[in-house]
Amino acid sequence: MKNVALITGVTGQDGSYLSEFLLAKGYEVHGIIRRSSVDYRERIAHLEGRPNFHLHYADMGDSMSLVKLVGKVQPTEIYNLAAQSHVQVSFDAPEYTAEVDAVGVLRILEAVRTNHLESTCKIYQASTSELYGKVEEVPQNENTPFHPYSPYAVAKLYGYWIIKEYREAYNMFCCSGILFNHESERRGETFVTRKITLAAARIAQGKQDCVYLGNLDSLRDWGYAKDYVECMWLILQHDKSEDFVIATGVQHTVREFATLAFHYAGIELRWEGEGINERGIDQKTGKTVVAVSEDFYRPTDVVNLWGDPSKAKRELGWNPQTTSFEELVRIMVQHDMQKVAADHIAGVMRTNLAEYLEKGVVK
Ligand code: NAP
Ligand code: GDD
Repeated sequence: MKNVALITGVTGQDGSYLSEFLLAKGYEVHGIIRRSSVDYRERIAHLEGRPNFHLHYADMGDSMSLVKLVGKVQPTEIYNLAAQSHVQVSFDAPEYTAEVDAVGVLRILEAVRTNHLESTCKIYQASTSELYGKVEEVPQNENTPFHPYSPYAVAKLYGYWIIKEYREAYNMFCCSGILFNHESERRGETFVTRKITLAAARIAQGKQDCVYLGNLDSLRDWGYAKDYVECMWLILQHDKSEDFVIATGVQHTVREFATLAFHYAGIELRWEGEGINERGIDQKTGKTVVAVSEDFYRPTDVVNLWGDPSKAKRELGWNPQTTSFEELVRIMVQHDMQKVAADHIAGVMRTNLAEYLEKGVVK
């Protein structure tokens, strides 16, 4: 049987890497996109036009669009990655977050059942380490109790349980990957890692003075997104439908991430002060380049995520250490140093061109 994958969230960080991964494996890949006033498909632009890559308009909030699409595509695997994925934003838009991240999962499951594909279509659900929230043990594994600590996490908890319910009630092959934070040069710019690597690059190149962050003590188990999409696929190739924790097993603070990112950008930081008054100072110039702002504090913050990937290692043969923390930070900073430099050159060229057009030097 031909492998046909349907990816929701195809324009996102993970969706773009997963598309590349599945296309390389010979899959026919279909992705769901949604209408927006600005066509923002930068992460998958290089895949568009490939014979095995197809995009369709649908929305996680629109059952009919999902039912029709699943019927048309007849997927053998669905990767449900679409979500309002920003934890802080979920405090401002909790209802929308629930609609997409919780009920959206149910809509996908029902779309599969409505099209009578229960026995031929496997489903991967993008569950999250945020389910552990106000953590009850460290490190966290598949048996650690959940304690969601944001509207995002509560919505994702529904997604986790409805997947489990359909597995047991209808004997469907549907599973959760409980993924810990994974980052990359394609990470959204308001997540803390990318915010830091972009700011470090801009500050190093004189384009920005200082970056404002929230809780610097927060601990995360950060991996590389490119490594993690392989696991999503492995979970669906496993002989049993089961849930897996995907993590590196290594933990760092936001402060440590910032120190290393600035180091790779050529700036050595010294930390001074505490809490809201803490600052990261450029040792060479004495200038404050990192400061703390309450704007980035959350009403409830998850502060101690640390995953135990033993089961994925043992049963899926996955290597959690493919890309080290140091390598991840280096890749992201190197990318953003080049991006900031390229944006600068593009800006200069645009200004010159405007001037030449005005003076009639070029027409
Ligand atoms: P992301 O970059 O924010 O991408 C989210 C994707 O969902 C985008 O393609 C977005 O489309 C799409 N989407 C949002 N609302 C939608 C809607 N109503 N209808 C259709 N599509 C919609 O997220 P990511 O980092 O790739 O994460 C992928 C998934 O894994 C998410 O479910 C996230 O919650 C989960 N997760 C992520 C991590 C992590 O560390 N990255 C860890 C654990 C779990 P637009 O481009 O149109 O906005
Ligand atoms: N975004 C952000 N911005 N976070 C900050 C900042 C800041 O300026 N300063 C400190 N932080 C802290 C947050 O309070 C949080 O404790 C930690 O950095 C990580 O925040 P994010 O990078 O926004 O990620 P997240 O852990 O909340 O959520 C991501 O990972 C989850 C998996 O654990 C998202 O990708 C979720 O979709 C995913 O489920």
